[in-house]
Amino acid sequence: MHTLYIKTYGCQMNEYDSTRMVELLAASHGLRVVDDPAAADLLLLNTCSIREKAEDKVYTQLGFWRPLKERNPDLIIGVGGCVASQEGMRLRRRAPFVDLVFGPQTLHRLPDMLDAALASRQPQVDVDFPFLEKFDHLPERPGQNGPSAFVTIMEGCDKFCTFCVVPHTRGREYSRPMPDIIREVRSLVGQGVREITLLGQNVNAYRGATGLIGEAGLAELLERLARIPGLLRLRYTTSHPNDLDDALIAAHGSIPTLAPHLHLPVQSGSDRILKRMHRKHQVASYLEKIDKLRAARPDIRFSSDFIVGFPGETDADFAATMDLIAAVRFDQSYSFKYSPRPGTPALKLKDAVPEAVKEERLAILQGRINALAQEYAQAMLGTRQEVLVTGPSRRDARELTGKTGCNRSVNFAGPAVLSGQMVLVEITETMPNSLRARWSGDLLPADAVEPRGFAHARA
Ligand code: SAH
Ligand code: SF4
Ligand code: F3S
Repeated sequence: MHTLYIKTYGCQMNEYDSTRMVELLAASHGLRVVDDPAAADLLLLNTCSIREKAEDKVYTQLGFWRPLKERNPDLIIGVGGCVASQEGMRLRRRAPFVDLVFGPQTLHRLPDMLDAALASRQPQVDVDFPFLEKFDHLPERPGQNGPSAFVTIMEGCDKFCTFCVVPHTRGREYSRPMPDIIREVRSLVGQGVREITLLGQNVNAYRGATGLIGEAGLAELLERLARIPGLLRLRYTTSHPNDLDDALIAAHGSIPTLAPHLHLPVQSGSDRILKRMHRKHQVASYLEKIDKLRAARPDIRFSSDFIVGFPGETDADFAATMDLIAAVRFDQSYSFKYSPRPGTPALKLKDAVPEAVKEERLAILQGRINALAQEYAQAMLGTRQEVLVTGPSRRDARELTGKTGCNRSVNFAGPAVLSGQMVLVEITETMPNSLRARWSGDLLPADAVEPRGFAHARA
């Protein structure tokens, strides 16, 4: 066993999990990542189950890998993530050549499962939910490649929205203790990471042990992380509106390193549909939080997730969603047609919306959001923006690419040594999915601004 190939579907939490699996298997078995599945001794598929055809996609991919296994019987194939969690043993029945099946909460057991499969030549299936154990069994983070990193701070979801598989595939909510998270972030910053995105499916429900006495929420954790010298930008995603408390709203006003962008999924602008979705928030309560956040951080922008065509959604319900979009003026959102998912209560709801109507509503909604995104981009022309440079641009290696605080991609000409630095640029042009800028020589190096802590500390 020397080489590993891994393919990842789904959300940022899955990306984080895949990174940790690679680090884990490098530490346990000395495995090295290769970018050609035919050159690998171990093939891993980290799966997502959020929308329709998720299972089909997994079985199709496994179908591509099957001939590799036929040619090389020593090849080990493993499937993890949310489809694995949902399917369990069923996955082996449909794809008997799979050796390892593990869930989002059992990936830390991969080295042992791999040893057992190698020794016994028997399949290993473990999609249990042993809470908190996962993070206690992952190695220290080794060398990072890039100035941005994800850190999962809480797992699972207790909300049980009627359309959603996540509580079923990732299990109940649990939060990592603050000292563990702070240690992980410090180690990443020590390796040159300048931006951290804290992850959870319901990240603002975070409540972790402080290390002293008791527990505290996300606002406290953000304040502690903001004190780490060299950490220039903090984000967190994804948030349920109900768990956005006043302390967290205040943190957006007091922590300058907290990016002026928040992804706050609303799903629908109709209270009747929100109720059927079991979202437990209303349009008015959502708008109230948006107002408070804007009061705390006037330059903040919002993005959201929307589902169109949820069972029972009428023209009037959809119009209410469009009204909400007009009221909040979202920037760059994600929108989907409702798709029925196994084991979710919405399966039983009547009044399915015809596919053609879903298509039409999705196109209208996306058109509006795109127009808003272009308006925001136009308004940025001529402004100076802090950009974290991630590296050379993919299209033109002589150019650099990076992200603004509001999460826009920016390309500009500049020396390669700027990679991994925070710079100030002037926006000169808008493109359909990115911005162009001019760099005038201003740098915000980590050591020149440390610690960027709190507003009062800078005064
Ligand atoms: N925890 C987040 C979202 C997690 S899932 C929240 O509470 O909002 C990411 C997005 O996928 C959801 O916001 C929703 O818009 C979409 N989604 C989830 N289940 C879906 C389904 N059955 N059909 C269509 N979209 C779905
Ligand atoms: Fe799914 Fe709702 Fe939990 Fe988000 S809050 S992960 S949509 S159940
Ligand atoms: Fe998908 Fe699971 Fe993430 S269903 S969106 S991989 S939590």
